[in-house]
This record gives sequence, C-alpha cells and structure tokens, in this order.
Amino acid sequence: ETKPRTPVIWLHGLECTCCSESFIRSAHPLVKDVVLSMISLDYDDTLMAAAGHAAERALEETIEQYRGNYILAVEGNPPLNEDGMFCITGGKPFVEKLRHAAKDAKAIISWGACASYGCVQAAYPNPTQATPVHKVITDKPIIKVPGCPPIAEVMTGVITYMLTFDRLPELDRQGRPAMFYGQRIHDKCYRRPHFDAGQFVEAWDDENARKGYCLYKMGCKGPTTYNACSTIRWNEGVSFPIQSGHGCIGCSEDGFWDQGSFYDRV
Ligand code: SF4
Ligand code: SF4
Ligand code: F3S
Repeated sequence: ETKPRTPVIWLHGLECTCCSESFIRSAHPLVKDVVLSMISLDYDDTLMAAAGHAAERALEETIEQYRGNYILAVEGNPPLNEDGMFCITGGKPFVEKLRHAAKDAKAIISWGACASYGCVQAAYPNPTQATPVHKVITDKPIIKVPGCPPIAEVMTGVITYMLTFDRLPELDRQGRPAMFYGQRIHDKCYRRPHFDAGQFVEAWDDENARKGYCLYKMGCKGPTTYNACSTIRWNEGVSFPIQSGHGCIGCSEDGFWDQGSFYDRV
C-alpha cells in the first residue's frame, strides 16, 4: 500500500476507441481498482477530466517527472502519409506525440489490432499509411495486446502482471503475452466436438445453425486465431462471437482485415 502507483500515459491515435470501451468493463480486476489503486493514469485523452491545454500540460509534466519510469499505453496507430496529417491531436501529428512520449517510456503496450498491426484503417490500399507502433518506435520493449478490441480482462491482466512482477510477461514470437495468446480459439471452442464429428453449419439459418454445429464452413477463423475468447470469453465470461452464432473473424491476427475475414472485398 505504500508503494507509489506506476504512472501510465495512454495515447489515442487513428482508432475507434473501443479498446477503451472494452477496458472500462473489466470485472477481474475491476477497472476502478486498476485506475484508482493500481496505476496512476496521468494522461488519457478520452478518460481524463482535463481537456485542451491543461491536458497537454499534464502530459508534459508526467514525462518530465517520471522519465524512464512510466508505462506508455497506445491505442490506435500513427498514419505516416503526408507527414502524419491524417491524425492531429493537441495541434500536432499524432506520430510526433507518440515519438515524444515513447522517448522516456519504460515500456510500451500496444492495445488492440490498431496499435499492434494496423487494423481496418491499414486495409488495402491504406491511403493514410496507418502504421503499427512497433514500426515507428524501434528502441523500446513493446508488448502487443491484439484483438479488435482485446478482452477487458486480458488488458487488465497484462497491467496487473507488469505491476506485480515489474517486468513484461513472457511474449510469443509476435510479441504477444503467451499466457493469453498461447492457444487457438479452435483449441478450446465448445463447438469443437461438432468439428471433429464433421457436423457443420452450411447456411446461416439452416437446421445445423439452430443445433449449434461448427461454423468452419461459414468462414470461422478459429483454427488459425490465437486469443483467449473461447476460455475467458467476454462480458464476465457470458459469451464470445462463436457462442453468439458467428464465426471468429480472427481479429487478434495480423492482417485479418485483408485476408477474407469479412464477407466481400471490393
Ligand atoms: Fe477500435 Fe479495434 Fe482499433 Fe481497438 S483495435 S481501437 S477496437 S478498431
Ligand atoms: Fe473451430 Fe470455429 Fe468450429 Fe469452433 S466454430 S470448432 S473455432 S472452426
Ligand atoms: Fe476476435 Fe475471434 Fe475472439 S473475432 S473476439 S478473436 S472469437
């Protein structure tokens, strides 16, 4: 209780903000405990009370006061085309803000598919040149927490681990925490017995769909997607995409937006 809370700067680039929407719904630990007792969220464009110059001042003061000791969390990514003009925050291209805040960060968390891989704004032909964080910041430890968005308890679980052990969790070859991205959706999917028995949904409203058969023939990407949805599930373990009747679109995998996860590519 006497240990000072770790300062966190949370930036928002080109994104939809649903990673934050996911984060604030964490139940284990409760997000209020994370934000009010575990970390010191000193700057977050979307969650802080301050705005405008007062907010930007808070960013500078945090960097100044905690050089080398704060965690930088990044949601969204910097678009690099036309000198970064496609995403302006605080009057400057986001890429400048990112480089500035990254310079003295202890470690960086790339939240979601946007920061980790680029996501839909990087879809072909990527007109803004939306670029994942690790391709812009190359001299800091980066932990990728992909998903669109990531599961709330995975986000707070990563923070909890970093605060408890004062180190990054073990990462896989792509830089994701192995404890949450070590298995495929398919490995723990409750529809797996139907896959093994060759029982498949053939059309969205067929009898097999009503019976809850496997969604592989409807394009489910569970066999090639590493994430914790089929174990932890969403909304306090209530459900996940496959349980709601739709196949996994592989939202935690690099390039899912250009690899046939959606119905048509025009
Ligand atoms: Fe939104 Fe998905 Fe990007 Fe998160 S990863 S900010 S949910 S588009
Ligand atoms: Fe695998 Fe998808 Fe079928 Fe589940 S629904 S068993 S993840 S192919
Ligand atoms: Fe994403 Fe597939 Fe989970 S679409 S939310 S990784 S089931």
